[in-house]
Amino acid sequence: MTVNSTLLQKLPADLAQDRLPRHVAVIMDGNGRWAKQRGLPRIMGHRRGVDALKDILRCCKDWGIQALTAYAFSTENWGRPIEEVDFLMTLFERVLRQELREMMEEDVQIRFVGNLSALPKSLQGEIERSMEQTRENRSIQFTVATNYGGRQEILQACRTIAQKVQDGLLSPEAIDEALFEHHLYTAGISDLDLMIRTSGEMRISNFLLWQVAYAELYVTDTLWPDFDRAELHRALTSYQQRDRRFGKVK
Ligand code: IPE
Ligand code: IPE
Ligand code: MG
Repeated sequence: MTVNSTLLQKLPADLAQDRLPRHVAVIMDGNGRWAKQRGLPRIMGHRRGVDALKDILRCCKDWGIQALTAYAFSTENWGRPIEEVDFLMTLFERVLRQELREMMEEDVQIRFVGNLSALPKSLQGEIERSMEQTRENRSIQFTVATNYGGRQEILQACRTIAQKVQDGLLSPEAIDEALFEHHLYTAGISDLDLMIRTSGEMRISNFLLWQVAYAELYVTDTLWPDFDRAELHRALTSYQQRDRRFGKVK
């Protein structure tokens, strides 16, 4: 923990508790560049990225944010060198095994979203175990998007709904936004309020395509391993200065 993060355990006084985003998503980008800048292999960036995520999760919990969703591995990331993909899968599994006890102590409910059946079997086992054990935890809903693609998420919802229509369980007229959302991976999590992307890229990279519709976007040049409580504070300050009109006039 940095000096900054130790100091910022309570919600900073300049942030309004009643106007905090309920659901924050992070595109944790820039691990590779962080490592390259230091002459280190890319995997070192991923290692440090895990430390940053742990601290941001704790911070969101401390400050009273209800849900945090983190993009850990996209459906497109399989296209990376096999060594990097293998390292990431092993890292996810190890971190999950190591952190489960602490997540229980901190009352964190973890869930994974994405096409989980394509992940290594041993990782799937850890995922199931952690979701099962933390199911009743209520302090924060922590969602990890792994082998996740927004288009793929929408397609699987369409397939399930189409099947229900074909089976005569549902009429096409009954398909509205609420029903559709119920078939997305994020069913049961409050609407996305704030999407943060690190490392300066101005793109969504197939993350939460449906859910991002009216979220506020915040992009910082800071690389993910350097994203700390002070950075989150900045993102929340920016969020609280926004005028969320949802298409209306005041
Ligand atoms: C994000 O960092 C982590 C994952 C995609 C797993 P990157 O690995 O994309 O880092 P850069 O963008 O190459 O710097
Ligand atoms: C997005 O980052 C995916 C994750 C953070 C897991 P990428 O590095 O894969 O995205 P692009 O390639 O810059 O669009
Ligand atoms: Mg990247």
